[in-house]
Amino acid sequence: MLIVAPDWMVVDLSSKVVIVTGAARDRGIGRAASIMMAKAGATVVATDLAQPDPDNLGLGQPAGLERTAELCRSHGVPAMALALDVTDPAAVRGCVDTVIDAYGRVDVVFNNAGTPVGIGGFIDIPDLHWNLSWQVNVMGMVYMIRSVVPFMRESGGGSIINNASIAGLGAVADFAAYTTTKFAVIGLTKSAAVDFGPDGIRVNAVCPGLIQTQMADKEIELYADSWGVSFEESRDRLAELVPVGGWGTPEDIADAVAWLASDSSKYVSGVALPVTGGLAPGL
Ligand SMILES: NC(=O)c1ccc[n+]([C@@H]2O[C@H](COP(=O)([O-])OP(=O)(O)OC[C@H]3O[C@@H](n4cnc5c(N)ncnc54)[C@H](O)[C@@H]3O)[C@@H](O)[C@H]2O)c1
Repeated sequence: MLIVAPDWMVVDLSSKVVIVTGAARDRGIGRAASIMMAKAGATVVATDLAQPDPDNLGLGQPAGLERTAELCRSHGVPAMALALDVTDPAAVRGCVDTVIDAYGRVDVVFNNAGTPVGIGGFIDIPDLHWNLSWQVNVMGMVYMIRSVVPFMRESGGGSIINNASIAGLGAVADFAAYTTTKFAVIGLTKSAAVDFGPDGIRVNAVCPGLIQTQMADKEIELYADSWGVSFEESRDRLAELVPVGGWGTPEDIADAVAWLASDSSKYVSGVALPVTGGLAPGL
């Protein structure tokens, strides 16, 4: 099965088994990428938290996960929903083992799960949020990479895509813990690309800019407070900063992810690809 991602670029994932983390939310990048890769023929394993996190930080969307898998299956490919907290290394290993038992291989991982709890005034961010940011945004990817690499090596290669952020390319005010972790994602992407390149494993990062998801609502609220304007006014002012015009969609990121997952990008590794509509990073 083929999709055409921009029209000069053919993306074919028909023999690939793909794991996506953080794939439950209806407006999320994880769901959009799962569906995009299913459309391109991939077998998709959609994962996310099984329940809201114990610290009640508003994460997790369990009901949405099975829906993501259903939407993938509607494109005629096998798909499975698995509960997974990426901060639990044993659970990540168990998830990968389940995928190997079911499908015999893992070709692509989209490490997408992330938390925005590290947004806020530098001094005000509590240790709990610094630690959770690090555990979800960075260690979750480390655990997944460690778990899939042995299987990718065995099958001759793979493609790992890490969801960083424009915040991993430059700093703006009031994003300290989030920014710190997203810079780390780019460091771990480049390190893994160097270390696993000889095994045929490519590792790249996507760096989304302003993308309309539930997570971005938090950012709009933060700016609304700091500018003293309404949510809508804040959303519109942010849109004006983007040279190509306005907010991006989860599908804009999913296009880039599907291309990086496919053999159409087979000579691309270690890249941190901005998908920002030309929005420049901060300092
Ligand atoms: N929306 C944007 O503008 C934007 C910009 C740059 C980067 N990003 C990145 O894109 C990724 C997806 O974000 P989104 O905007 O689609 O928001 P989202 O809230 O829809 O997605 C984040 C997902 O991660 C999941 N998650 C959180 N903690 C988890 C854990 N411990 N284990 C497993 N899953 C966990 C959540 O349940 C959620 O489904 C994130 O890494 C985010 O940092 C988003």
